[in-house]
Amino acid sequence: MRHITQQENTFLLSTAHTAMLLQITKYGHVELLHYGMPVSIEDAAALAARRTMPYGSQVMYTEEDPTYCLDNIPLLWSGAGKGDFRISPIELELPDGTITTDFIYDGCTLRAGTLPAVGLPAAYDESGEAETLVLSLREKKFALRLEIIFTVFPAADAITRRTVLYNDETVPITVRSLMSQQIDFPQREYEMLTLDGDWISETHVHTRSVQPGRLVNESTTGFSSNRHNPGVILLEQGTGENTGLAYGFNLLYSGSHYTAVERSPRDFVRIVSGIQPQGFCWRLPAGEIFRAPEAVMTFSNEGMNGLSGNFHRFVRQHILHGNWKEKPRPVLLNNWEAYFFDFTEAKLLSLAKQAKAVGVELFVLDDGWFGERNSDTAGLGDYTVNRKKLPGGIEGLAQKITTMGLRFGLWFEPESVNLESELYRTHPEWALQQPGRQPSMGRHQLLLDLTRPEVRDYIVHHITHLLDHCPITYVKWDMNRNITEIGSATLPANRQQELPHRYMLGLYSILERLVTAFPDVLFEGCAGGGGRFDAGMLYYFPQYWTSDDTDAIERLYIQHGTSLVMPACTMGAHVSAVPNHQVHRTTPLQTRGHIAMAGQFGYEMDLGKLSEEETELVRQQIRQYKEIRSTIHFGDLYRLRSPFEGENTAWEYVSADLKQIVLIYCTIHAHVITGMTQIRFEGLKENAQYRNTETGEIYDGDFLMNVGLYLSDSKDYATKLMTFELC
Ligand code: DGJ
Repeated sequence: MRHITQQENTFLLSTAHTAMLLQITKYGHVELLHYGMPVSIEDAAALAARRTMPYGSQVMYTEEDPTYCLDNIPLLWSGAGKGDFRISPIELELPDGTITTDFIYDGCTLRAGTLPAVGLPAAYDESGEAETLVLSLREKKFALRLEIIFTVFPAADAITRRTVLYNDETVPITVRSLMSQQIDFPQREYEMLTLDGDWISETHVHTRSVQPGRLVNESTTGFSSNRHNPGVILLEQGTGENTGLAYGFNLLYSGSHYTAVERSPRDFVRIVSGIQPQGFCWRLPAGEIFRAPEAVMTFSNEGMNGLSGNFHRFVRQHILHGNWKEKPRPVLLNNWEAYFFDFTEAKLLSLAKQAKAVGVELFVLDDGWFGERNSDTAGLGDYTVNRKKLPGGIEGLAQKITTMGLRFGLWFEPESVNLESELYRTHPEWALQQPGRQPSMGRHQLLLDLTRPEVRDYIVHHITHLLDHCPITYVKWDMNRNITEIGSATLPANRQQELPHRYMLGLYSILERLVTAFPDVLFEGCAGGGGRFDAGMLYYFPQYWTSDDTDAIERLYIQHGTSLVMPACTMGAHVSAVPNHQVHRTTPLQTRGHIAMAGQFGYEMDLGKLSEEETELVRQQIRQYKEIRSTIHFGDLYRLRSPFEGENTAWEYVSADLKQIVLIYCTIHAHVITGMTQIRFEGLKENAQYRNTETGEIYDGDFLMNVGLYLSDSKDYATKLMTFELC
């Protein structure tokens, strides 16, 4: 094995620029000797030597060794009730009614490649470089086994891990909590960075100092949520955008999640993350297995930019898959903000014609094409096409659009049902609800019970039918409400709390069937915008609608925050009309175009309302975007200025071959006194020259990086998009 080495009880997991060193202690616990900069397995002795703490009020694991207190050991797995008083990654109700667990090492296997997960998304590898270490642990009193499955992805500097619990007892146990990952860091000062928000204000960056006690980043909405994205970053004090130590954690999971960062009295910092334990309880019968979702961690000594670069590579190479993984994605026009529910076939065709004329490649019909769906109060759950709006059905419309030379895409919201729908009238029992309790409505709809095979089949059948019979090459998969009153007639009372996770397993199985059957269809996820924009969803959907907020200035914050954990090729970003319908702000069309070009570019407006001059600008924007999209999506991002820290924003994209540079710059608030910002570039070739493709001016790479260019800040909301080519 090249990236995982074992020497007796010590294991070294190495990526290109990071290393994790583990050691099985003399009593069988998995100690973390180091995670961060590269080390060698010979360093284990030096790193293990630190454990000489005295004990005061500490509990000794055994009196044989008074310094061996679980509370003071940096562990990769702990338990409850044995003297480690930090947050436990596991809480079980055992056959004797207690919750104490003591899992100790019982062997390992090393293998090349990944170990496929069952029923859940998991990172995969095509490079032939990934290696897997499975640590087997056994509970000291009960016949329970744990596997901790680590996979190393060397080029992405990422290590994934997941936990699998086997109940070998003859009676059931209850899993109250089983985290996907636990890691303990040594004594240092850290800050925790999270991405928080709400609908139309996703992924705003917040940092807080990790003080004694616990900080929690969690979702309780049933989904990964727009409130708190599951991605969490730990920064060593003083770490900035390009320098310092940064550790990143994320989950490949789309349900409610939980990450706790706890600083112990001895100043160790523990992070655990996994399925949200609140409202979760899993009865594990004798002989059965529970699998926690996969978690990923990465480290960089090049600050947040280095860290997010790792996340980007990891997501692009090991999460996104299918035929669209590395293909340039089409420029789209979505009719939603143009017409909302008020459209006819004639209006759509006229919009499509205008779209084609300016260079759009994909026309997307959003909500409102089926059942009695003339507002969001009715029709969801039905798939019968509204022939008043579309006399030729979806097939007729899709054919006409395809004949124009455009691809055709269609919106679905398959997980929900309106009470006012044929589906609900026929199958009220298919909705998640609790008998005797008034259901709380979210956008006038209930969620379907995806644990029922007949519900999953109904969804797969209808979508398959449309994809089989119409030339649909893109699907927007929307979901617009949080989970409340979760209940299913299919589960007994003592299993109702399994439902949130079973819902996700049901959803993943639907998605697996569809993406496998239609590998050429481009899927874009959406949950009222970024309400479920997580690495689990990206396993099925190579792109995601980042936010329903299409105001260019708001998007600076949302896209900047999202870029900390997700690459640009996953972020849907559209130009919409002004004044913006969410925030009523008016920004120039140029600005809206430039900021949307930092993601998967498209338009969401009535092109017929544009002046000739504006139409020409749209044509130019699309032309320009096609020239730079590969660099933006698959190159390296450098965040040169953050909207969270100043009055302007600058994002630089460098193509993998260093031949094309794109700079997107936006002044949020103009400054009459300074009026200029000096922007230093990053990541260029030092001894090379770059030509500004618009002005023809030539600059040395060193000059652009060490001195930089002065950009004007004389106008609110003004942007500049500059491209440079290697001479
Ligand atoms: C919410 C999505 O985020 C919007 O883009 C749009 O598709 C609407 N749903 C349609 O109801």
